[in-house]
Amino acid sequence: MTGSAAPALHYDAVILGAGAAGLFCALNAARRGRRVLIADHARAPGEKIRISGGGRCNFTNLHASPENFLSANPRFAVSALARYTQYDFLEMVEAEGIAWHEKTLGQLFCDGRSTQIVDMLVRGATEAGAELALSAPVREIAGDGPFDIRFEDRSVTSDALVIATGGKSIPKMGATGFGYDVARQYGVPVTEIRPALVPLTFTDAEKAWIGALSGLSVDAQVSCNDTQFREGMLFTHRGLSGPSILQISSYWREGEEIAVDLMPGEDAFARLRDLRQSAGRQSVRGALAQVLPRRLGEQLGEGYGGNLADMSDAALRPLAEQLSNWRLRPAGSEGYRTAEVTLGGVDTDALDSRTMAVKAVPGLYFIGEVVDVTGWLGGYNFQWAWSSGWAAAQAI
Ligand code: FDA
Repeated sequence: MTGSAAPALHYDAVILGAGAAGLFCALNAARRGRRVLIADHARAPGEKIRISGGGRCNFTNLHASPENFLSANPRFAVSALARYTQYDFLEMVEAEGIAWHEKTLGQLFCDGRSTQIVDMLVRGATEAGAELALSAPVREIAGDGPFDIRFEDRSVTSDALVIATGGKSIPKMGATGFGYDVARQYGVPVTEIRPALVPLTFTDAEKAWIGALSGLSVDAQVSCNDTQFREGMLFTHRGLSGPSILQISSYWREGEEIAVDLMPGEDAFARLRDLRQSAGRQSVRGALAQVLPRRLGEQLGEGYGGNLADMSDAALRPLAEQLSNWRLRPAGSEGYRTAEVTLGGVDTDALDSRTMAVKAVPGLYFIGEVVDVTGWLGGYNFQWAWSSGWAAAQAI
């Protein structure tokens, strides 16, 4: 175990998980004068922050509001998101001198490296007096306030115990179901959990077809269960990916279809009819290669012989339908191996939405991704980590 200060036996708060939520909670609680130990089984803090946003960390979203989050109780996140907002975090980033830019759709990224955010949090927490313990797996937790927490090489006690160990996505990076186990130990219900913000996979027949377009990225509107996202869609060897697919994966369930509009914002039937009028002597395949990215158009048009002029309105309609409402039934997802987040988690009915404390065990807190609050792609999940971490820090 390594620590920046001499080990002490009793803390106001022990925070388990030195990721986004845990570090931010530690920083704010320590600044409030609390004696804090933050411990992680990993060798380095904030690893997911480091790899996030392609190394530039999409640290928040200008448009963050409760509508951008999934939860069995959509109202749960309202209080925390309102009390610590995206503008509050942005103010901190600016005070630190970290240059940033809006990439698209309100998504804020570092101009430099995501490690600037990790450094800001780790330095902020330790300078405020929090002790950071790395390579420190927990062996046992007992008590319900004060808590006894047994690490491999020492035991400590604390008045508050904050679980910030995240979800199950990317096990290779140290993600575990630890937080859910602690919840169960204390009788706190956990909702169904599943990988989300994850590429979708297909059966062999569709995979071959889709795989032939591997590497192609198109603008698409993807829908499922009354929800739609218009962003990039990427064809891969294994299936479909890209922001619009990752977004819809949070709403999709096994056995369901997704609908893909390959000409979003356009009337595909009207466009094809116009083309038939102005350039009807070209092949259907050629026409599709004109209205869609070429490789995709050629592939979709493969089964069609003849010219566009030969097609009646009745024949044109199903073709247009395929462009604007292409129905696909994914076989599954790539799972926790590549999922950006875990959907579901600690049941929010058991938590106080103002403090993140377990109502039945007031000294026990759950923050960040381990809670059943899951954001869209685009900086929302980090905002939830900051907001929920801040809320708990005000209470411990
Ligand atoms: P987080 O996962 O950050 O931290 C949990 C910590 O607990 C880890 O340090 C882990 O080692 C530790 N831990 C786990 N089990 C433990 C145990 N048994 N004992 C002790 N410690 C344990 N979001 C976003 O808003 N913008 C973005 O750009 C991205 N990009 C992105 C890219 C990739 C590749 C992934 C996988 C994810 C993202 N995300 C994202 C999602 C975002 O990273 C995620 O939602 C937050 O990191 C969640 O913060 P938490 O602090 O809750 O968990």
